[in-house]
Amino acid sequence: MTMPDKEPRVIVALDFPSAGPALDLVSALDPALCRLKVGKEMFTRFGPAFVEKLAGKGFDVFLDLKFHDIPNTVAAACVAAADLGVWMINLHASGGRRMMETARERLDGAARRPLLVAVTILTSLTREDIAEVGFRGAPRENVLRLARLARGSGMDGIVCSPREAADVRPEVGADFLLVTPGVRPARAALDDQQRVMTPADAIAGGADFLVIGRPITAAADPLQSLRDIREEIAQQVRHSPTAL
Ligand code: C5P
Repeated sequence: MTMPDKEPRVIVALDFPSAGPALDLVSALDPALCRLKVGKEMFTRFGPAFVEKLAGKGFDVFLDLKFHDIPNTVAAACVAAADLGVWMINLHASGGRRMMETARERLDGAARRPLLVAVTILTSLTREDIAEVGFRGAPRENVLRLARLARGSGMDGIVCSPREAADVRPEVGADFLLVTPGVRPARAALDDQQRVMTPADAIAGGADFLVIGRPITAAADPLQSLRDIREEIAQQVRHSPTAL
């Protein structure tokens, strides 16, 4: 994989129950300063037309639908997502090597090729939760195993918690993307996130892209909040040559 442009590194999570406020927010933002993430709620309500509208405004869109199904179905869904003109899509690494490899092959043959990243273990799951569905060991061990499997199956990177990034980075090497939600600027409210890190710490830990929602979307001045976060990231990048 040729490494994609890392700038802009902030991916704003658009989690709104209606399209109007989401589009109002988007008109206050700038594709040169951030990317956008559309997840299951907005996609299920507003569909492909909403995604195409965002892409039409010049934004790179991460379509966060976390596919997990038989290989042929996931590969076909990935190609359908690519046809929307999105920048990044994702699937569950626990769908297995054949599912990931089939998606990889089918996307490589498609006219458009979005970045394809894998979810390892959802950060909402505890050791007890994963034991109940048959995974042995701590979430961290499973994250590392699935990160290696994702890499070996041709994925461009994984989504992981910023706290996991520093553990994962040495396992997967430099040219593998780490996309981290669970990021909060030092003075921001935690909302329902528990295990958070600041943007600077996430970058220092090896994250490439940061998914940030409410600290921007719920701010009185979203653009200013984005600019503040970008400044914090830029300072850290200057101090960590490996983050370039
Ligand atoms: O508003 P906030 O910054 O918490 O939004 C984070 C976004 O990242 C949400 O869209 C959430 O669903 C997503 N996410 C997360 N933690 C994960 C995976 C995804 O917060 N482990």
